[in-house]
Amino acid sequence: MTGVCAGRIALVTGAAGGIGRASAVALAQAGARVMVADVAACDETVALIKNAGGEARALTVNVADEQAVARMVSATVEAFGGLDIAFNNAGVAGVFTKTHDYPADDWARVIAINLTGVWHCMKHELQHMLKAGGGSIINTASVAGLVGMGHAAAYSAAKAGVIGLTKNAAMEYARNNIRINAVCPGGVRTNMTESADHSLPGFLDRLAKLEPMGRVAAPEEIASAVVWLASDGASFMTGHALPVDGGYVAR
Ligand SMILES: NC(=O)c1ccc[n+]([C@@H]2O[C@H](COP(=O)([O-])OP(=O)(O)OC[C@H]3O[C@@H](n4cnc5c(N)ncnc54)[C@H](O)[C@@H]3O)[C@@H](O)[C@H]2O)c1
Repeated sequence: MTGVCAGRIALVTGAAGGIGRASAVALAQAGARVMVADVAACDETVALIKNAGGEARALTVNVADEQAVARMVSATVEAFGGLDIAFNNAGVAGVFTKTHDYPADDWARVIAINLTGVWHCMKHELQHMLKAGGGSIINTASVAGLVGMGHAAAYSAAKAGVIGLTKNAAMEYARNNIRINAVCPGGVRTNMTESADHSLPGFLDRLAKLEPMGRVAAPEEIASAVVWLASDGASFMTGHALPVDGGYVAR
């Protein structure tokens, strides 16, 4: 396929659905060969990419497990012969409760997946990209890492941490031809927000009302920013935490 990512090899975590799936499909449509990884099955994502004429393979990973992440990166390099683009996107919502009530086990789980998981991915992707001479890493943060949300202590801490990890690494590798950015989505209709809507009826409506545009995003609206950050069109972008949020943080 031709496009702004033609000839590139991409790895996407959290690719079984939502923002990860839409981004894997968009990267493939832009010409990348894509390894889709998730703790859940990615068959549907692979089928979507293949049906659109792209190339994809899938593997199972728990990003909280560093050895599994190391194997994921090696398997991607072995399968496709390199790694140019990494979208570290896997994440969980955590429980919705105030800080004084937040359960310690859920805190540990959310930090392990949403923050330590991104660090695991970056660590092993960077080892390869340093040897290969370059690359582009995009991490999924959130508007919750930029502004206060409420009822999301572990999630907000993890997403603010992802922005810190992104900026720190951008400084470290700016002269190694490796760009590292984060996307900060506002409300997006995915399994994550639909499940929250199920347990807290009206959640998606309330999220839409908080958005200046009066609606939540489709995953594809985040994916197009990911493709741009991955591409040479963003060649002078590094260390950025880019809100893709319908104006949420501008309020
Ligand atoms: N939906 C929103 O409104 C919104 C807003 C801001 C940021 N985000 C972030 O976007 C990212 C994608 O979420 P989404 O909204 O597409 O939801 P989603 O639930 O559709 O996707 C998250 C994916 O991550 C996978 N995953 C969970 N734990 C994992 C683990 N330990 N190892 C590997 N994979 C794991 C899930 O199986 C799932 O496929 C997350 O990091 C989320 O925090 C979402």
